[in-house]
Amino acid sequence: MKLCGHRGVAALAPENTHAGLRAAHALGLTWVEIDVQLSRDDEVVVIHDKTVNRCSNGRGRVRELEWPELARLDAGGWFGPEFAGEPIPRLAEYLGLAAALGICVNIELKIHPGDNAGRLCRRVSEVITPLPPESLLLSSFKPACLAHMQQLTPAIARGLLVERLPHDWHTRLLQLGCIALHCNHKYLTQSQAKAIKAAGFLLHCYTVNEVARMHTLADWGVDMIFTDDPRGYKQ
Ligand code: G3P
Ligand code: MG
Repeated sequence: MKLCGHRGVAALAPENTHAGLRAAHALGLTWVEIDVQLSRDDEVVVIHDKTVNRCSNGRGRVRELEWPELARLDAGGWFGPEFAGEPIPRLAEYLGLAAALGICVNIELKIHPGDNAGRLCRRVSEVITPLPPESLLLSSFKPACLAHMQQLTPAIARGLLVERLPHDWHTRLLQLGCIALHCNHKYLTQSQAKAIKAAGFLLHCYTVNEVARMHTLADWGVDMIFTDDPRGYKQ
């Protein structure tokens, strides 16, 4: 079972930052997951929450801030003084560092209520189209986003994000041309895992931080987990 650093490695470095990516690399991870949104001026930025309040020294909604304002924020000092001055990354630069480190990236297209999903899809596709598809995996809780990315970047693999497994999961995955289902491990049962694997899809679970649970999911055939702290798990 593969380990994917959640938001970089969120327990060890400020989430969704270059420092998190470097920490993932130092731990030997080959995959990280990040969240992306649009700034007011249509830059694709790597950040999870709808506001910058929790993970930076700024205030305000991501979509209402211009890139030059976001670029000035400190996205590391809230986590620890050693990370002070760490910027909010843009997707293009983040992926450049990931490529240099040999790390593959799961880009979660994060749509908060009222966000312009179509615009985010178009801007993400412009950033990722020139890149090697095998180094990327797209995911979203919004099926419409995945359908749009299927049109825009058909060569880049997609995973459908859900909390609980919906009854029509198989139809949805087929309709969206997804190769993977990404679900909350808390609600996953062994028989569901078996059915998803038997249908030929990859099964990825978030966010798994207990080592015993990692082993259980590995036994169930889960292909990859998202974790804030991979250190305790031995293959
Ligand atoms: O992509 C898996 C996981 O990141 C989904 O939840 O809220 O951490 O983005 P969240
Ligand atoms: Mg995420």
